Amino acid sequence: MLLNLTILPGDGIGPEVTEQAVLVLQSVADAFGHQLRLQRKPIGGAALTAANDPLPADTLRACLASSAVLLGAVGSPAFDHNPGHLRPEAGLLRLRRELGAYANLRPAVFFPALEDCSPLRPEVVRGTDIMIVRELLGGAYFGQPRSIEGNPGSQVAVNTMRYAESEIERIARVAFELAMKRKRKVLSVDKANVLECSRLWREVVTRIGKDYPGVKLGHQYVDSAAMLLVQRPTDFDVVLTENMFGDILSDQAGGVVGSLGLLASASVGGPVGLYEPVHGSAPDIAGKGIANPLGAILSAAMLLRHSFKLEAEAACIENAVSTVLSQGARTADLAGKGHPAISTAEMGRRVVEAAKASSIPAGPAEKSA
Ligand code: NAD
Ligand code: IPM
Ligand code: MN
Repeated sequence: MLLNLTILPGDGIGPEVTEQAVLVLQSVADAFGHQLRLQRKPIGGAALTAANDPLPADTLRACLASSAVLLGAVGSPAFDHNPGHLRPEAGLLRLRRELGAYANLRPAVFFPALEDCSPLRPEVVRGTDIMIVRELLGGAYFGQPRSIEGNPGSQVAVNTMRYAESEIERIARVAFELAMKRKRKVLSVDKANVLECSRLWREVVTRIGKDYPGVKLGHQYVDSAAMLLVQRPTDFDVVLTENMFGDILSDQAGGVVGSLGLLASASVGGPVGLYEPVHGSAPDIAGKGIANPLGAILSAAMLLRHSFKLEAEAACIENAVSTVLSQGARTADLAGKGHPAISTAEMGRRVVEAAKASSIPAGPAEKSA
């Protein structure tokens, strides 16, 4: 198969982790007989520097013309005081909208080898396997009007949280469909005791839930859900929630399983899928070669699964990640207790090796054994 991809390395650790994800993709493509066609384009701060636009027309064109997009991260303190439309993050938000990527899937899976990395006791975190289904194109992120107006000292800022029934319906269906293939549990997270958006959310999710009688639907206020996520993470299966709550809960889920650097995501629903780790550009560690590339690498696995239906290839990457972690490979965010830290590149190299080892067809010796 021809895998026609646009790579958007972005800012900070984005290029460092993306490079490793591309190396892993390349080796898995080679092993399974696929051809990778890649083009790299700037986004975020890198694009602001190059073209004074966080999503240049050429970058968007390339993304729309490819089969899938792999992104590192955007954001840099250098642009933190820019007007909203000239911030790196604006490029990513526009890209999500242009790609029609309304469904953001953020799995948080606990790796048994990482028992000493979670701040939670092993008996609490063991078995955690959560799929956060985050609505990605609505809510306060995109609602109009939005503004800051007035003179210094008496300024007023406005954001609008907005949801249409159709937006809630389509993301709810994604969550229920996923739940059918998992433990058949959906927890819809909202703030229906305070927000109109959440009351509509709960009404629509409840209605759609009737089409899925085999799925157990629960509702939880977001504050309470945040508490439960650290108290009983194994109770969760599919979490269905709006844009901002999903943003917050997914970072928290990263903390639960041991590091934000482990989490991958897929943003789907439109014609071209977008794949990116959940973490940001991590300016505090950028350029040091110590970032954890596993979130990016696992995002590449999601890309193979969701955009190309290459399940065996996706599983090959995921198994390779599991293998290297159980062999003790740890970047700085996971290191300690007898496990020295390895670099971003070394982690990538080990995943490539593990993926190669598992994708080699059994030789005659093994076959006859
Ligand atoms: P962040 O996720 O970049 O970093 C939070 C903390 O986690 C930092 O201490 C960082 O060092 C650590 N961390 C993150 N990823 C890591 C990895 N792969 N390996 C090891 N440690 C890792 O969040 P932040 O500091 O709040 O934001 C920094 C910038 O990133 C901001 O400009 C923000 O807007 C942007 N951001 C972008 C994305 C994205 O592109 N999808 C996501 C989140 C934040
Ligand atoms: C994420 C990020 C983005 C978001 C920012 C950078 C726009 O935090 O992907 O989680 O809030 O969606
Ligand atoms: Mn986030």
